Amino acid sequence: MENISGILQDWYDKNRRELPWRMTKNPYYIWVSEIILQQTRVAQGYDYFIRFVERFPDVESLAMADEDEVMKYWQGLGYYSRARNLHAAAKQVMALGVFPVDYAGVRSLKGVGDYTAAAICSIAYYLPHAVVDGNVYRVLSRLLGVDTPIDSTMGKHEFAELANALLDSSHPGEHNQAIMDFGAMVCTPQSPRCDECPLVGRCVAKAENRVNELPVKSRKTQTKNRYFNYIYVRAGAYTFINKRVRNDIWKNLYEFPLVETDHEVSEEEFYALPELQAMMVAKERPVFRSLLRGVKHVLSHRVIWANFYEVVLPEDTRSFSSFLRIREEELDSYPVSRLVSLFLEKKQ
Ligand code: ADE
Repeated sequence: MENISGILQDWYDKNRRELPWRMTKNPYYIWVSEIILQQTRVAQGYDYFIRFVERFPDVESLAMADEDEVMKYWQGLGYYSRARNLHAAAKQVMALGVFPVDYAGVRSLKGVGDYTAAAICSIAYYLPHAVVDGNVYRVLSRLLGVDTPIDSTMGKHEFAELANALLDSSHPGEHNQAIMDFGAMVCTPQSPRCDECPLVGRCVAKAENRVNELPVKSRKTQTKNRYFNYIYVRAGAYTFINKRVRNDIWKNLYEFPLVETDHEVSEEEFYALPELQAMMVAKERPVFRSLLRGVKHVLSHRVIWANFYEVVLPEDTRSFSSFLRIREEELDSYPVSRLVSLFLEKKQ
């Protein structure tokens, strides 16, 4: 097995991506990069990383920042719990006094799971922990011809053991990054570059013509439809927004007043909704205009179908239900979902 790691590391030496977090052993930078890269490709994460560490160059500056600002720097990256946890963990580190220096300490930080702890400890501290991410599942399942479902308990154990057996303990950070880059650049999910693969001669999946069948997943992630009806209020220079505070998607991001329904509702149905009526304080029904309908926004386990309505209220409207009254031009300074920011771009 060591030979395999050696081949991967040789490949990595020649083909590695030169990335800003690869020029440092500072655990803070490695931590931020690994959190970004958990669910984001390098190509997209790169600019976010640069902007994030420019504004928050160390744990202290992150811990001291206002959460809205941290969320703003994350805007558009998705999986916003990553940013909330990063911020909370920065405060944890400040309380500890130092960035943890061992696996258990790193693993105890909010938002740091087995994968991130192994990545930080192997890269920053040369500790022998193998990472297991989507790339590793793919490379190992194909190379060794393992068809145990990667989302089963048994699969998780089996692949963690295989990953550790393959680990080069004297160069754990290089090994881990080599296998991840290899998975991202050669042993890709679709159309893997087997003709460029230095391990092709040892690949069980290749020999058995099963490359496209591996890795195996037992469950198809179920997607659920949700129906969001947003109300863009225009009261002269003002509008109204709301902070999503519940444990739900986009927690702690801001958005326009929202009525969620359990099915797609027509304009007529929308105007008659009791939730909408309850928001309206004025006796006379204000004029609504349907601006955008059926906007499809795909998340990992959800499809959001969004409609946007505009309602014009008198400029001196001070309150609209319990929503936050802001000047329109202030909208830019609030962290919002990609759906809301796309609407803001479109409506202009
Ligand atoms: N994906 C997540 N972390 C990575 C890293 N350090 N190198 C390559 N791919 C990654």
